Amino acid sequence: MRTIHGPDLRFTSLSQPQHHDRPTVLVVDFGAQYAQLIARRVRELKVYSEIVPHRITAAEVAERKPSAIILSGGPKSVHVEGAPSLDPAIYELGVPVLGICYGAQLIGQQLGGVVGRGMQGEYGRARMTRTGPSLLLPDDAPEEHDVWMSHFDGVTEAPDGFTVTATTPGAPVAMLENDERRIYGVQFHPEVVHSPYGMAVMARFLHERAGIPNDWEMSSVIDEQVAEIRERVGSDRVICGLSGGVDSSVAAALVHQAIGHQLTCIYVDTGLMRKGESDQVVETFRRNLGIELIHVDAGERFFAALEGVTEPEAKRKAIGEQFIRVFEENTGGLTDAKWLVQGTLYPDLIESGGTDGTASVIKSHHNVGGLPDDMSLELIEPLRELFKDEVRKLGAELGLPDEMVWRQPFPGPGLGVRIIGEVTPERVALLQEADAIVREELRLAGLEREIWQSFAVLADIRSVGVMGDERTYGHPIIIRAVTSDDAMTADWARIPYDVLETMSQRIINEVPGINRVAYDITSKPPGTIEWE
Ligand code: XMP
Repeated sequence: MRTIHGPDLRFTSLSQPQHHDRPTVLVVDFGAQYAQLIARRVRELKVYSEIVPHRITAAEVAERKPSAIILSGGPKSVHVEGAPSLDPAIYELGVPVLGICYGAQLIGQQLGGVVGRGMQGEYGRARMTRTGPSLLLPDDAPEEHDVWMSHFDGVTEAPDGFTVTATTPGAPVAMLENDERRIYGVQFHPEVVHSPYGMAVMARFLHERAGIPNDWEMSSVIDEQVAEIRERVGSDRVICGLSGGVDSSVAAALVHQAIGHQLTCIYVDTGLMRKGESDQVVETFRRNLGIELIHVDAGERFFAALEGVTEPEAKRKAIGEQFIRVFEENTGGLTDAKWLVQGTLYPDLIESGGTDGTASVIKSHHNVGGLPDDMSLELIEPLRELFKDEVRKLGAELGLPDEMVWRQPFPGPGLGVRIIGEVTPERVALLQEADAIVREELRLAGLEREIWQSFAVLADIRSVGVMGDERTYGHPIIIRAVTSDDAMTADWARIPYDVLETMSQRIINEVPGINRVAYDITSKPPGTIEWE
């Protein structure tokens, strides 16, 4: 990964899990990214959930007093060398356990059953048949119905005390249940939409078998955080660096709800923002939400620092340095500030367990770029328990406009890394226009929320064209639009030709100096999402 400068300088520190009184489900992460989806599904069923690494000990589990435990999917088979395991004493704690896929195989293996080797496996839809009365399957689930499978081996003999309640062609034990010990396993994936009764199975486990009420509301985060922030902060002053992005915006709105005028937000306008973005930030925060906002209009300084700079890393460095200086100058007056708000999200704190079973560490990523050395600030991270989709919902509840809540990720160095060659105010103005057209046309086509990022790139090359009777010698705009889940990998978006055509025509007609439009069809890897 490239170094991230400016508003995005990061450092990492260990942080402690938080303890709450509310009923919590621990989702044990076996390293294949299933845990996050499961944790989100549990929350959709109005039960609070947290992800823990599979190395967690029974004593650590007991200390957290969970209401239930879900063992997530993981590598394909428990027989794989170095396959991650679970402290078997966890089964003795009397906490209800649901094993999913790999988790079900672990239950089978660790409690005395048999997990077959070299089975045929099942991938995708499979037909599941009930083999006895089940305490997990909903009563209205037919004798036979589809489930989503992704496994190689599977449990072939359930441990003593377990009843096999369903089977599929490739999984003789598709469901196993021991109600006395309140331990259950499902070979299929109830958390994916392709298992039509999956959510009902999870709901029965949580609400009926584990007896957890469905009363956790995402909006209760507002009340809890407001109370907690008030208590921690007292009458101190708090600052928050706004980037215009979703996370810092929602964090600021939430903290403002708690402490009102004790919060001061600082928005450094680098001059490299998208069209209309700075106005929108100022409008939303200052006028709509009544938040005290220092709007630093620093474009000129950034352009001066970028004069003659063409090398991508040098640009990033120049922007990063300038940002820190401007931030310092403008927070210097807030000498009584004791707290800094950060929009850290839950996924920032989780590290996958890894298929090799290496220890998982809980980390906190702090965006502290731009802090003066002599300011020792304590962090407020009001979103640290939430997933991105939950943060968006929270933002809407706090009254942030849709355009802000659904904003795409935007790099700290802004349009500076989307102009190939020297960054000048004129080029930024051109790019802002073209970029606005790309995003507007996607929105009109109803594609906005399917696309991870969509933007225009201005290249410092020229090509020949003809407009009317005139020969032109202008610059191209490159359209970049990708689909992605996490920006680590991305695919170019299959935008319909007619939408591309409208974008191209509008850009050439409306943006002076542009005479050609190209569409970037590079995936990541090998390309990056941004051009620089
Ligand atoms: P790349 O271009 O590396 O980008 O595929 C991955 C994601 O990160 C964003 N990005 C940045 N975000 N500061 C940021 O906050 C940066 O310097 C930066 N560079 C890239 C990019 O927009 C994409 O979402």
